[in-house]
Amino acid sequence: MAELIMIQGGTAVFDSGTRQVDLIIRDGVIAEIGERLSVPAGAEVLNAEQAWVGPGFVDLHAHLREPGGEAAETVASGAAAGVKGGYSALVAMPNTVPAIDSVPVAAHVLDLGRRSMLDVVPAGAITIDRAGERSAPMGELAALGLTFFTDDGMGVQRAGVMRRAMLYAKGLRLTLAQHCEDESLAGGGCMNASALSSRLGLAGRPAIAEEAMVARDLLLAEHTGASLHLLHLSTARSLEMVKAAKARGIAVTAEVAPHHFTLTEACCEGYDPLFKVHPPLRGASDVQALAQGLRMREIDAVATDHAPHAPETKDRPFDEATPGMLGLETAFGLTLEALGGDDADPVLLFELLSRNPARIAKLTAGDERRHGLSAHGGDLSVGSDANLVVVDPSTSWVVDRNQLASLARNTPYDGRTIRGRIRHTVVAGSLVLNDGEFTR
Ligand code: DOR
Repeated sequence: MAELIMIQGGTAVFDSGTRQVDLIIRDGVIAEIGERLSVPAGAEVLNAEQAWVGPGFVDLHAHLREPGGEAAETVASGAAAGVKGGYSALVAMPNTVPAIDSVPVAAHVLDLGRRSMLDVVPAGAITIDRAGERSAPMGELAALGLTFFTDDGMGVQRAGVMRRAMLYAKGLRLTLAQHCEDESLAGGGCMNASALSSRLGLAGRPAIAEEAMVARDLLLAEHTGASLHLLHLSTARSLEMVKAAKARGIAVTAEVAPHHFTLTEACCEGYDPLFKVHPPLRGASDVQALAQGLRMREIDAVATDHAPHAPETKDRPFDEATPGMLGLETAFGLTLEALGGDDADPVLLFELLSRNPARIAKLTAGDERRHGLSAHGGDLSVGSDANLVVVDPSTSWVVDRNQLASLARNTPYDGRTIRGRIRHTVVAGSLVLNDGEFTR
């Protein structure tokens, strides 16, 4: 059903800067942008005063767990968590059971996405069953509209397999996204390898496990000419290598996850498995370097690595618990804080949470491979698909794990006051979140 919506009194965030304007949404697209527009008859008016209006957020890294892990999350519940977090599109990670390594599984997830509150595009696996050996049928998956491939949860360990996948991906104009951890260095570890891990008696996953794979894959990307995306980078040195690679013209993009720029390894001191994640939380200097990298535009995207887990697997001794933490409902406020709170540049914030991830996932208006999904992350303009978010940068709220839309409860931020609240989310011209509440 076509909806008529007016977003009134907000600060619109364009690619080029901000302006006080109203927006009218009709038939799924932005129909008008202007100062003090009159309210069309029958329009739903959304209050955007003291708020920023920009393109809906796009998450490159959401574990939606369906098929196979429905006790932790489903596509529907993950999509709801996304909408509450201001997202209009999510890339669903392929470490499901079975993995998204075949056309039937990918088609199933696409179908579940179509019935959810926002746009879901699955990432395909690079190798069959993410086992790191035989290539997945990337060409067939690309024909369904998939453009982003990863074995996330596990990096592709063998350089020869990664090189072959890159050559294949280059021919098909696909992006390979790597979980950078060399298991011969990280395997068996459960937190950052440091003086603290020694004191706690926990086996470590050293920074070099990530950095060695970053270095290897940058070399392989240069050698093959393939497009490489580096998932959830967690160390200063990884960022330095990305910066140098970009300067050499290598086709690489990088994301960081909010937990890596807000939480340090010190969180693990109480052996609380909520703080167990791969790659692990690092020391303070790495955390500061990541936040600085965001501000300096050295990182392309903030991606959540939203990793819901059921209590049966998460509420266990630290070394036995599954790694991962929730992210979709808290990412905006944490990013805002890292960008300087009151001093944050809204254009940069939307670049990190919407424009760049939409481009990396090929969900922008210019890309012909969206396969029926609406366009995301574009500049606000008349005629463009209405995927929009209205965010209030000054209102604070307290994270309550029992109030989350996600089915899982494993947020590391329970009880934390976060400044920055999602007010309204519009997906493909439909109002799905109104003043923080679902409309359906
Ligand atoms: O901590 C993690 N959890 N890291 C990953 O890469 C995968 C994720 C998961 O699927 O739970």
